[in-house]
Amino acid sequence: MIKKILMVLLLALIVIQFIRPTKNNSGEKLNDISTKYKMSDTVRLVFDKACADCHSNSTKYPWYASVQPVAFWLNDHVMDGKRHFNLNEFASYRIGKQNKKLEECIEQIEEGEMPLSSYTLIHKEAVLSENEKTTLIKWCKSVMDTIHANYPEDSLKLKRPQQAAGK
Ligand code: HEC
Repeated sequence: MIKKILMVLLLALIVIQFIRPTKNNSGEKLNDISTKYKMSDTVRLVFDKACADCHSNSTKYPWYASVQPVAFWLNDHVMDGKRHFNLNEFASYRIGKQNKKLEECIEQIEEGEMPLSSYTLIHKEAVLSENEKTTLIKWCKSVMDTIHANYPEDSLKLKRPQQAAGK
């Protein structure tokens, strides 16, 4: 009996290897955040190493990302991360959403929520030093200042409740 169950499990494991989620590597960045807000190479480098795998249109996949069920799990993080905040689509967001996402970035970094700990467990290079945190937070704040200087407060309000919730 146990032998049979193991065989079925093994077979299932083999079969799921053939299911390949579409990779997130379109590289599309027409509406990249830097097209609207000036970003230094230093800031870009930190976003790239710590956030871009889940918050851009180009994920750098490790070899094990092709092995199921890991691929499902990684794909889920990338899709979910991108939906909440995409550096390569940022300039296409409405101004209120841009402002809100920058505020969330600051919160997530300050609270150590981002980058996700399941990610930094393997990607040690993505762990942010205090300096790097300050660099990102300062930059996000300066962009928020630019937004507040150029748009009336009213236009920064998120009207739809699901937007206010960051969805
Ligand atoms: C391993 C993937 C991964 C990495 C790396 C990552 N994130 Fe995320 N991020 C997610 C996922 C998944 C979500 C959505 C679910 C959640 O909020 O936990 C998210 C949500 C967010 C949100 C939206 C939060 C909200 O309330 O809607 C922001 C802002 C964010 N991340 C910023 C960052 C920044 C900045 C970095 C780099 C310092 C980063 N993330 C690195 C996966 C990632």
